[in-house]
Amino acid sequence: MDRPIVGLDIGTTKIGVIIGEIDPSGGLKIVGVGTSPSDGLRKGVVVNIDKTVKSIERAVGEAELMAGVDVEMVYVGIAGDHIKSINSRGVIAVSRNDNEITRSDVDRVIEAARAVAIPQDREMLHVIPQDFVVDDQPGIKDPVGMSGVRLEGDVHIVTGAITSVQNLYKSVERANLKVAGVVLEPLASSYAVLEEDERELGCAILDIGGGTTDLIVFIEGNVRHTASLGLGGRNVTNDLAIGIRTPLERAEEIKRSHGTCLRSGLEGGEYIPVPGVGGRDQREVSRAVLASIIEPRMREIFTLALRELQKNHYLDTLGAGIVLTGGCSQMHGAAELAEQVFGMPVKIGIPKGFGGLVDAVATPAHATGVGLVQYGLARLTHGKDEDLGSDRFRGLFKKMTQWVKQYV
Ligand SMILES: Nc1ncnc2c1ncn2[C@@H]1O[C@H](COP(=O)(O)OP(=O)(O)OP(=O)(O)O)[C@@H](O)[C@H]1O
Ligand SMILES: [Mg+2]
Repeated sequence: MDRPIVGLDIGTTKIGVIIGEIDPSGGLKIVGVGTSPSDGLRKGVVVNIDKTVKSIERAVGEAELMAGVDVEMVYVGIAGDHIKSINSRGVIAVSRNDNEITRSDVDRVIEAARAVAIPQDREMLHVIPQDFVVDDQPGIKDPVGMSGVRLEGDVHIVTGAITSVQNLYKSVERANLKVAGVVLEPLASSYAVLEEDERELGCAILDIGGGTTDLIVFIEGNVRHTASLGLGGRNVTNDLAIGIRTPLERAEEIKRSHGTCLRSGLEGGEYIPVPGVGGRDQREVSRAVLASIIEPRMREIFTLALRELQKNHYLDTLGAGIVLTGGCSQMHGAAELAEQVFGMPVKIGIPKGFGGLVDAVATPAHATGVGLVQYGLARLTHGKDEDLGSDRFRGLFKKMTQWVKQYV
C-alpha cells in the first residue's frame, strides 16, 4: 500500500488524527480517524509536552488501528496568538533578453518578497504567493511565458514564535513521529471546507475551536489575511458553569445538548436539570437562561472577528460571505447569530471532497484534521514549494515529492 498522508490536529480540547490514502483515480480516501482529549495546551499553544505526547499517542494509536497502517510522518496544525502575518511585495528585472518571464524569474521574485526582516525570535511558517504584476499590469496569477521587463510578486507571510513551534515539534517527535510540514490551522481548514468559487468571490473562514478562533481571508483566490483571536468554546463553557453554578463537565454536556445562542422562540419554557456544585441540590434551568449566557459570548467572538475584518478593510470584499467551522460552530443558532453580526451570508463548513470514512469526519470539528491531509495531498501532487516557508522543510519536502511521484 502507498504511504498514507496523515493530518495531526493538536487542538486545545482534542487531538485529532486523520489518515488518508490516494485511491487509484488520484482522489483522497479517508481510512482512519482517531481522537483523544487534549489538556496540554492553552489557547492553541503547547504548555505541557508530556500530556500532549500522551494524547497524541492515544489518538494516533486509534487511527492506526482503524486504518491498519503505521503512521510515521504527519502534517501538523499550528495556531495561537503568537502567529503573525504580513503581506509583502518583491520586485525584480526580468532576466531574459527577449523579456520572456521564466519560472526562475518567478522563483526570484518570491525570494525577493520573502526577504523581509522578521524578529529573531520568530520563524516563517508559510510564504504563500498571491498575484503578480507584470510591468504595470496587476492581477496576474501565472506570469510564466508573458513578456515584461519588470516583475512584481505579492506574498502572504505567516510567522510563529520559534519556541512555540519548537514545543510543537518536540511533542510530535517524542510521540515517535516525523513532521512532514507545519500548517496554519485555518489554512488547513480552508482545504476541507471551501469551494474554489468561494475563494475567488472572497470569503472569510472563522474556525471556532475550544481555545482560539482562527480567521483566514481569501480575496480573488488568494490568502490575504490571517489572525487568531484568543476566545473559543471553552469560554462559553466557563461562562455557563459560573452562570448556572454547575461543574465544568456538566456545563460542557448541557452546552452541547441544550445550548443555543438564539434568545428568541424559547418562551415555551423548556427546563434542564442542573446538578449543583459541592453537593448542593439539583435545580432546573430554562433554555432561555442558557441562551442569555451563551449568546453574549458568541456575539463577542463574532464581533471581534468583525472588527478584525473592518480594521483591515475586507468587509466589502467578501462576496461569498463567512464560513464558520471548528467544533464550536455546531452551537445551535451559530449561523443565524453570525448573519446578524456580520450582515452577510454565513454557512457552516463541513469537510468534503474525499471518500472512505465520510460519516466519521463530516463534522466541523474535523475540518482542520481533514484539511491537513488535503493540504498534504495538494503539496505532494502539485509540488508547489514556495508556500514552504521554513527552510528546515525544504530538503524533506523534495524527498517526499520524489516518493509521491513514484506512486501517483
Ligand atoms: N454540539 C456542539 N455544540 C456546541 N459546542 C460544541 C459542540 N460540539 C463541540 N463543541 C465545542 O467545540 C469546542 C471544540 O472545538 P474543536 O474541536 O474545533 O477545538 P480544538 O481544535 O480542540 O481547539 P483549538 O482549535 O481552539 O485549539 C469545544 O469548546 C466544544 O465545547
Ligand atoms: Mg482546532
